[in-house]
Amino acid sequence: MSKNSQHGQWSSRLAFVLAATGSAVGLGNIWKFPYITGENGGGAFVLVYLTCILAIGIPIMMAEVMLGRRGRQSPVNTMRDLAKEAGSSPLWSWLGWVGVVAGFLILSYYSVIAGWAMAYVVRVASGVFEGATADGVSNIFGQFIADPEKLLAWHSLFIIVTMLVVARGVKGLERTVKFLMPALLVILVLLVGYSMDQGAFQQGVSFLFEPDFSKIDSDGVLTAMGHAFFTLSLGMGAIMVYGAYLPSNVSIGSTVIIISIADTAVALLAGLVIFPIVFANGLEPGSGPGLIFQTLPIAFGHMAYGSLFGTLFFVLLVFAAWSSSISLIEPAVAWLVENKSMSRMRACIWAGLVTWLVGIGTVLSFNIGADIKFFDKTFFDILDYLTANIMLPLGGLCIALFAGWVMKKEVSANELSLKHAWVYAVWRLLIRFVSPIAVIIVFLNVVGLI
Ligand code: PHE
Repeated sequence: MSKNSQHGQWSSRLAFVLAATGSAVGLGNIWKFPYITGENGGGAFVLVYLTCILAIGIPIMMAEVMLGRRGRQSPVNTMRDLAKEAGSSPLWSWLGWVGVVAGFLILSYYSVIAGWAMAYVVRVASGVFEGATADGVSNIFGQFIADPEKLLAWHSLFIIVTMLVVARGVKGLERTVKFLMPALLVILVLLVGYSMDQGAFQQGVSFLFEPDFSKIDSDGVLTAMGHAFFTLSLGMGAIMVYGAYLPSNVSIGSTVIIISIADTAVALLAGLVIFPIVFANGLEPGSGPGLIFQTLPIAFGHMAYGSLFGTLFFVLLVFAAWSSSISLIEPAVAWLVENKSMSRMRACIWAGLVTWLVGIGTVLSFNIGADIKFFDKTFFDILDYLTANIMLPLGGLCIALFAGWVMKKEVSANELSLKHAWVYAVWRLLIRFVSPIAVIIVFLNVVGLI
């Protein structure tokens, strides 16, 4: 079975690497990784997260790209066809559906936070933070998120910008990420230079890399594992649909390693930028989703060329979010085009509208709806927990089971075409046993069964 995708193909291996890295590197690395690391005590959390990337993330990413390339369609249709090819149940297409739903839910809040970053580009550039105190910065953030109309306006703008790119199809995605990714790395490295010079660098490094296991509980371990999926864009079909546009002669193994290294490097670099600034200014690492918005502007307000560095930083964050958000909605758009014979444009309008509507819930959860809680969680907290900690790991578990147990060995060996037989053997061991068992253990541990 050698098919072509009706949605087009990446023009080269580099284009795929950039697009997949663009998907992986996003708010997850720069906004979420620091604040959940801060909330979960630092080093031990980082160690669990890195272990999950290696033992679970990398093998599952290989599996996801492989399934995508073999099926060459939206995840829903890919899973249906691959299940048929393997003589298994068409129910596997549900995996694609869960992914589509997860993509909608994630994008709905992702876009709200990306909206914050857009708003901060303007704020930092205007110089309001120059000379500001910690209280001043925190007031500005407080006032900002207390204003539903502002949040809604930025959320709307972000959805529109995302949909415009997706509407242009693979070529649109490709052209956008080609200049985004390299720019992003350059700006980040500049900022690390600043933190080394002006921040409490040593303290930041110890916080990130000296594990203290008394600081992490089973829910922290689940968060670390969920984040490994989230940050690599795994478990919901984003990487699968990008795999569907991958030329057949590209080696999946080495490509996935490059993407994972790039993604991990950006997260660690972001940590190295943020924590030294946090500690140098006596700030609180565990202050939650507002961490980078409440802490960094203080530093930007006090350093030479702070408004310039700050503006660059938030521009970077918006770019990173943008190239991730397009992959969150691509599985749904590809399905609408395939099954509802919609044009990409129409599909984008519908998908954008639904995500926009759900996003209003997140907008309100930071202000008027902040007190509406279930199980002590706001609407935003629930979406985040449900998607990152439950849906993505479950999706990933099913992908591992499908690739390791359902798909025929010759098919996966052939599709992966790894250079050395032992590498394939290691992958197969990881995907059949290590990754699924690890995910199951973490789940059981959280619900208190082990
Ligand atoms: N990986 C992206 C990030 O770290 C988020 C994402 C998750 C994108 C799932 C696509 C799919 O920000």
